[in-house]
Amino acid sequence: MSTLLTGIGELVTNDPERTGDGPDGRIGVVERAAVVVEGSRVAWIGPAADAPAADAVVDAGGRAVLPGFVDSHSHLVFAGDRAGEFAARMAGTAYAAGGIRTTVAATRAATDEQLLSGARRLVDEMLRQGTTTVEVKSGYGLTVRDEARSLAIARTLTEETTYLGAHVVPEGTTPEQYVALVTGPMLDAAVEHARWVDAFCERGAFDVDQARTVLLAGMERGLRGRLHANQLGPGPGVRLACELGLAAVDHCTYLEDADVDALRDSGTVATLLPGVEFSTRQPYPDARRLLDAGVTVALASDCNPGSSFTSSMPFCVALAVREMGMTPAEAVWAATAGGARALDRDDVGVLAVGRRADLVLLDAPSHVHLAYRPGVPLVAGVWQRGRPVL
Ligand code: NIG
Ligand code: FE
Repeated sequence: MSTLLTGIGELVTNDPERTGDGPDGRIGVVERAAVVVEGSRVAWIGPAADAPAADAVVDAGGRAVLPGFVDSHSHLVFAGDRAGEFAARMAGTAYAAGGIRTTVAATRAATDEQLLSGARRLVDEMLRQGTTTVEVKSGYGLTVRDEARSLAIARTLTEETTYLGAHVVPEGTTPEQYVALVTGPMLDAAVEHARWVDAFCERGAFDVDQARTVLLAGMERGLRGRLHANQLGPGPGVRLACELGLAAVDHCTYLEDADVDALRDSGTVATLLPGVEFSTRQPYPDARRLLDAGVTVALASDCNPGSSFTSSMPFCVALAVREMGMTPAEAVWAATAGGARALDRDDVGVLAVGRRADLVLLDAPSHVHLAYRPGVPLVAGVWQRGRPVL
């Protein structure tokens, strides 16, 4: 079964073979384009005038099509919410990592069914906003049983699952005892469900030596590493991620020149999470500085009940453009191809022959409208692995 999606006013491909100069160069735009989808893959891309015949035809009516968003950082397996904490922050209370323990208590008390239905609701919410690939972390269980079941639940929703036992040290244990648990029995239980290992390297969570211990233990068991770092203040986390050659280091809000140099030299992706700064009233990360230095930048939602309860990649794109010095094209690339790099994936984030047919149709003539019309539900159609899901 093949489908011809034609009448595309602007097709964002991110295909390196189609990129060029100018502000939109990096996103490889094809104008007046068509795409043929066969099964779950892209079979043909080019000018609509040259398109081959297909079993079915969909007319985009001159609107824009882009690759599905790749949200490379989220925490969707949890119970309860922290709206009260958010309201208190907006009245002047500072964000602190300790709020995580509130969600841990609610998560431990929830049934598997409650956790699965909450996470599924958020994945569906993401899909409706154009996210076709999402990474999901554990980290609100913090016992062997609760981390294992969080990951098993995440695994039913995505192949990109991340073991974040090292989120905070739970009450009733010392950091030393807890790191031993995270790198021992908890890791034993996590490896069968997880692709990635992560740690929260921050004041109030884990220091750089503890984060290194956790990452190396996971990597020895075949997990790939990623890291939360430099969210609440400067520190050595970003350089640790670069030294270990991790795929991505996430937050990167407080950076020194040595961090930017290390990111550029290592190829580790800097994943920026502007929903966090929106929701914590901290300064936004300086994407311009990173891009100008030649660092690969991704954008992700960090969807979680504490620091960023948004599931919307269009919202993150708009924030990145308005608050972080990114052009619309840079932000769209970071939210698609950048996310794919951060997950070490080459089958998503780019529209080219043989890649996954994950596409978003906007109710707008170009990608610029994602930032130009913030807060407007512009996602009019979504195809995931070639299947229309919206
Ligand atoms: O990515 N930084 C650590 N973890 C989450 C916050 C979790 C929470 O506050 O519940 C984050 O921002
Ligand atoms: Fe996070």
